[in-house]
Formats: sequence, structure tokens, C-alpha cells
Amino acid sequence: MMSAELFAVCALEDIPNRRAVPYVLGRRNETGDVVPWPIFILRWGRNVRAYENRCPHRDTHLDWDRGEFLDADGTRIQCGKHGALFDLGTGQCVDGPCLGKGLTPVDVTIDAEGDICLIGVDLVEEDDFDSGQGAE
Ligand code: FES
Repeated sequence: MMSAELFAVCALEDIPNRRAVPYVLGRRNETGDVVPWPIFILRWGRNVRAYENRCPHRDTHLDWDRGEFLDADGTRIQCGKHGALFDLGTGQCVDGPCLGKGLTPVDVTIDAEGDICLIGVDLVEEDDFDSGQGAE
């Protein structure tokens, strides 16, 4: 079996149960420049999912307040701009202005040490990125 390269982002315990935490990682674009890559990781017990932090409606970040991604019930991802709701497991829009579209999933797994790892992405170690997404 081929083993894909893993890149540890955080420990499972770094994400509270039923919460999502944003990260801004560094990634190379087609021209070789390192660019910020905002994602968020969602935890439900021992299940984890990750998506790019970008709403398919207006191409903007999703969190309505820094690090807040879920609706009031905590059962859907909610975009802070116009309230689109997304399924936790698939990232598909289930209500709101981007019905028929979905979030871009990022492959993640939990390794033997209990770290949440991205699978097979070309990441660059960078400490300089501000995890804030900037204002409007
Ligand atoms: S930008 Fe997300 S719903 Fe409009």
C-alpha cells in the first residue's frame, strides 16, 4: 500500500469536542511562491474533518467571529456573511445562497500519536502567517 505523506497540524485534544478551529498554513502555488492557506478543522469525538475556510458564495472566509464556524445548535457549519449552512460531514451547502455548491474538503487523518494530520499536501513550515482572516 502506498503511504501518503502526513503533515501534523495539532493534537486531537487541541480541538474541543464539537468545535472547529481555524489554521492558516503555508502552501506553494503554481509559481512556487508560499501563500497563506486558511483552513479549519472540525472535531466530533474521534472524527475529524477539514475544509478550506472559504465560502463558495462570495469566496470569503466563513467564521462569523474569529474561530466561530458552527450554527447555534452546533450541527451545521454556518457562514457568517449570509448564513449559508453546510453539512458537517460532506461540506455541501444545505441551505442558503450557495445551494448546490460545497466547501472544499481537505484530507485529514489521526496518526498513531494522536495528532491530526493533513494527507499528501505540499505544506511549508511558516510561523509568520497571522491566523486572522482580515477585515472586510
Ligand atoms: S459569503 Fe457565505 S453565504 Fe454569502
